[in-house]
Amino acid sequence: MQEDNSQEMDTLWGEDVIALRAENAERGQLFNDGNYAMFIHWGPYAQLANKVDGKTYYGIGEWIMNPRMANIPVEEYMEMAKTFNPVNFDATEIAQLAKDAGMKYIIITSKHHDGFAMYRSACNDFNIGAVTQFNRDPMKELAGACKKLGLGFGFYYSHNQDWTFPGGANGPGTDADGNPATFDDYFVKKCLPQVEEITSQYGPIELIWFDTPGQMPKKYIEQLIEVVRNNQPNALVSGRAGHGLGDYKTLGDMDVPSTNVEGMWESVDTTNDSWAFAWYDEYWKTPGEILRRLISCVARGGTYMLNIGPRGDGSIPERAARTLRAAGKWIRRYPQVVYGTDASPWQHALPWGDVTVKDNTLFLSIFNWPASGTLYLPGLKTEIESASLLDGDQSTPFEKKHGWTCFELSPQAPDNLVSVLEVKLKGTPKADSTWAIDPEIETEIFSEAAVVENATLENQRWMEKFGEWKHVSRVHKWTPEGKATWTVNVLAPGDYIVDLTYSGEGRLVWGVTIENGEHIQNQQNSSHNYQRFPIGWINFSGPGTYKISVSCLEGDLGKASLKSIHFTPVHNIL
Ligand code: GLC
Repeated sequence: MQEDNSQEMDTLWGEDVIALRAENAERGQLFNDGNYAMFIHWGPYAQLANKVDGKTYYGIGEWIMNPRMANIPVEEYMEMAKTFNPVNFDATEIAQLAKDAGMKYIIITSKHHDGFAMYRSACNDFNIGAVTQFNRDPMKELAGACKKLGLGFGFYYSHNQDWTFPGGANGPGTDADGNPATFDDYFVKKCLPQVEEITSQYGPIELIWFDTPGQMPKKYIEQLIEVVRNNQPNALVSGRAGHGLGDYKTLGDMDVPSTNVEGMWESVDTTNDSWAFAWYDEYWKTPGEILRRLISCVARGGTYMLNIGPRGDGSIPERAARTLRAAGKWIRRYPQVVYGTDASPWQHALPWGDVTVKDNTLFLSIFNWPASGTLYLPGLKTEIESASLLDGDQSTPFEKKHGWTCFELSPQAPDNLVSVLEVKLKGTPKADSTWAIDPEIETEIFSEAAVVENATLENQRWMEKFGEWKHVSRVHKWTPEGKATWTVNVLAPGDYIVDLTYSGEGRLVWGVTIENGEHIQNQQNSSHNYQRFPIGWINFSGPGTYKISVSCLEGDLGKASLKSIHFTPVHNIL
């Protein structure tokens, strides 16, 4: 059991973090300023851990009973759920982990698509209190632990899908007596009364996270939101309520956008590949990956909610806890980079890292430290007052060159995870969002930044394993006249290696052309997965702005799908 060191912990983090304790936060402040939360997927499915009758099913574990996974019959699943007995569940340990991770609130599954309520529900017996020997209410315990540690608390509730209650979306079509069941039956007998329960019996609620609204009629969602508003006027409703009725936008699973998104929004992600515990899933995000995705999410203007999946016995996978705590230690060193900061004026990440903003101060989070010790910042339009490393005590020299600001840092990064350069400006941060090719560090520019002619720029998402979503913006449906053109800013003239990341079928010939400059082309193979292929060296004659175009010249143009173009400097090593 972790001792409650929350007060001591808070004093380490500076005044603004103390203000972010749930009890004194304004409506939505933990979301808007906290910028970082814990998602928890936990239920009887965690007990199966993706293994049924000795066979492992790969994909998101909370779908294990679904026909697209183990296809467990409803009765069999409901029988299994009775054996759920999380004797190692420790609410304080989980809340302390969220606190140590630097997260500001916890959202936990009160009822997922399987229909099992993780609390004592009076309106439906398929719940932890009625059918298992576990005679506690883990939701009440976790709500209390969060309150004690100053964290916000809220519930995930699958309001449309219910695979075990008659009438629930994708659930049984008849009741126990064989009578046809309607969605209205499910809504009136279970969904509405349960949302009433979770918004009235667990104290102050930060957020109700509805999910997969599917074809749920608007009138039902409006009723649910009315219950939330009445019982929890300070609570937010997630972007997946349906019919655009949520209080903010929830992006697709596991999607951290590469260009800024306007308004209030969140990315939801998971520490490995499955939301719920899966016995085989040991592919954990490292502390560096967690920080890069968190900082980039904040830099795009959003909030990052990162998931853990406790085991069936209630314990937390040790590796998940370790990586979260390591990232949290970094946040405790630099809370001002993540909390209360806003989107980057560059509108996208930069080759070496990303930028979060607080008033007239930029925080340059450097993920890839330049070996030369010189950090190149393109297009800053506001005059600099001062610059210094958050680790350092002396100012960082800099000079302006052709619209770039070149900061002289040491060749050795001060922080082994992410180093931060604080740049105080003499006014509101303004930047030219034109993509710029770094003189030293490889630059990847995505298709969504291109102007596309005679081809199609379109978002694409697919599942690696079942439920493990990937997202790209790509150029496809190429024609012989097709062209993707980027406007880029170059500081250092000379040669750069050009690679393209694309998917396709068979050999393809790609052309890369600098307007009024060099043209190169090459034939490479392709793969059904997005893969990076070299095209060749290309020369930029001097500092300045260029238009550079890519065309698909030969091969199966219809199947070619371009994700990004890469520039790796060679001028500096010749
Ligand atoms: C998808 C899945 C659901 C999961 C959610 C997390 O909606 O269906 O299982 O809880 O993503 O964002």
